[in-house]
Amino acid sequence: MSQDERWPDFCRRILTCGDLETKLAPAPAALSTAPVAAVVPPVNRPARDARLAFTSGADRLPRPAALCEASARAACLARFANHELMAVELFAWALLRWPELPVALREGWLAVLADEQRHCRLYVARLAAHESDLGEHPRSDYFWRHADTLADAPHGPRAFLSVMGLTLEQANLDFTGLYAQAFRAGGDDASAAVCERVHEDEVGHVAMAARWLRRLSGDDGNAKGDLDAYLETVPFPFGPHRAKGRRFDAEARRRAGLSERFIEEVERARSKAGGG
Ligand SMILES: [Fe+2]
Ligand SMILES: [Fe+2]
Repeated sequence: MSQDERWPDFCRRILTCGDLETKLAPAPAALSTAPVAAVVPPVNRPARDARLAFTSGADRLPRPAALCEASARAACLARFANHELMAVELFAWALLRWPELPVALREGWLAVLADEQRHCRLYVARLAAHESDLGEHPRSDYFWRHADTLADAPHGPRAFLSVMGLTLEQANLDFTGLYAQAFRAGGDDASAAVCERVHEDEVGHVAMAARWLRRLSGDDGNAKGDLDAYLETVPFPFGPHRAKGRRFDAEARRRAGLSERFIEEVERARSKAGGG
């Protein structure tokens, strides 16, 4: 890759090329998030080749107890891989959408994007070990359905931090913990290890989102806590009830630096059955 690779080109390729290899190609070593003269605003829908294209219809996550069946494990791995791929695309989208943000935040997002690429690869490899691939499973557009909401949200990048980091990734703390255990109980230690790895990285992603949300909300002295900043900026239909999975992991949230107020609010929030 050339020395003068520009970060907008890297992000744009993730959104406009439909193949998995391009979307998961690592960022060039020389890439920096230095400001550039022009960034074309991204479309609110990524390109996806036929075997990655979004599908409508059921995208039910198998119950943890079902993971003794290889077919349920494959369904689960495909769903997680697609979620990671959507995260890759959405961080690329956010970098292009708000090029004026502090360099340190954009560097953080670029590092998270690289983590999401790695997570996607790990799940895809486990899917291959089950003699399957993403093309054989439903591929929900769940995150992308809300891109217009994010693009137009009055709180802009703060809404992105609230939705991506403090709702979807916070919820993933619960899902990855629960499913790590379920894979292990189902006899698939390798997939369990992937979930555990993703879980650990997710603690860091949630921590980063919380830190930057407070900072962009003018809360260096803790005048306004993380919960207030979250409730102020998170757009409908997201909110505390969406920031958790089937089994609540308060300890992972503490490790991510969330306040006890925030943790309690999420734990108490009425959740829809099923989660996801
Ligand atoms: Fe991830
Ligand atoms: Fe993440």
